[in-house]
Amino acid sequence: QMDERESMFLVSTFAKDYFNNLMLNTNQGKAIGLSYFKERGFRDDTINKFELGYCLDEWDNFTKAALAKGYDLKYLAATGLSIVKENRQFDRFKGRVLFPIHSMSGRILGFGGRILTADKKAAKYLNSPESDIYHKSKILYGIYQAKKEIAKQDNCFLVEGYTDVISFHQSGVENVVASSGTALTSDQIRLVNRLTKNITVLFDGDAAGIRASIRGIDLILEQGMNVKVVQFPDGEDPDSFAKSHSDLELKEYLEDSAQDFINFKVSLLLKDSNNDPIKKATVIRDIVSSISKIPDGIQREVYVQECARIMDISERVLFSELAQLLSKEK
Ligand code: CTP
Ligand code: MN
Ligand code: MN
Ligand code: MN
Ligand code: MN
Repeated sequence: QMDERESMFLVSTFAKDYFNNLMLNTNQGKAIGLSYFKERGFRDDTINKFELGYCLDEWDNFTKAALAKGYDLKYLAATGLSIVKENRQFDRFKGRVLFPIHSMSGRILGFGGRILTADKKAAKYLNSPESDIYHKSKILYGIYQAKKEIAKQDNCFLVEGYTDVISFHQSGVENVVASSGTALTSDQIRLVNRLTKNITVLFDGDAAGIRASIRGIDLILEQGMNVKVVQFPDGEDPDSFAKSHSDLELKEYLEDSAQDFINFKVSLLLKDSNNDPIKKATVIRDIVSSISKIPDGIQREVYVQECARIMDISERVLFSELAQLLSKEK
């Protein structure tokens, strides 16, 4: 089992180098893969830092190269780099630019592959399948490149996508990781919790995304961490915002727009409830449920006081609702 995983890491490292070399040093790689990233404004140093790559749009260019180097088809299949069907094999990521996914210690666990054209039939991103070395729910994209700066800044920015992470680095904000578009998990939060107690969640500027993300945030509170949120303007994500603003403007936006999560959630939900008393009662229960996740009693009390003020109800009501929830959990 240990040797099998080791072989999977080795072939993944080979793939990362192969795709990166191909993109930087071959005519097709430069014309297609590298120009894609250049057109998106990524610099050479950024491309090198994240070891980005490209897989030729041929059936099995990569698989053949790996087999010729002596890598076993068994591990090419186990990592999902090659898809094996009826004795034929082809490259999972053919025709895509690649984002290698590193573990906290820098091992290659898998890849995200982005399609280059706006083809409606194919998924925009294709990721490595779950395997003995790649568990999507246990890793955060960019944690390896960010870990030093997360500890130094004592804060971690959490974004949705690969390109959000990379653009932030290029704009001088290096304490950033991505959940890669899935719901946040406790395992992912624990990775950050080892480095800092402070998370700032950055939302793409679309309302649906924010409402979907809000549930996962209670998991951060549960681990006793402090959570802030930043909302980007409508239609922008952190990548597009960073690209259209100077480094200084980005830093100032992150500082000036950061809001405490509980306060943010209160105002968001209250807006939805339109002063309807029944809806407002639901909002209050929802907020108190978030507060009940906070392990520290003093912090809970501060939030109750603040929320009572914002929601214009008595602290007594909130405290009794909170007490009920806390006794149920025991
Ligand atoms: N994602 C995915 N599969 C998809 C769509 C998205 O795995 N079909 C993940 C990717 O990790 C992606 C993240 O969800 O980076 C956020 O999705 P989205 O905002 O749609 O993409 P962007 O990161 O903004 O990518 P781009 O700017 O290249 O369009
Ligand atoms: Mn995930
Ligand atoms: Mn999005
Ligand atoms: Mn996005
Ligand atoms: Mn984007």
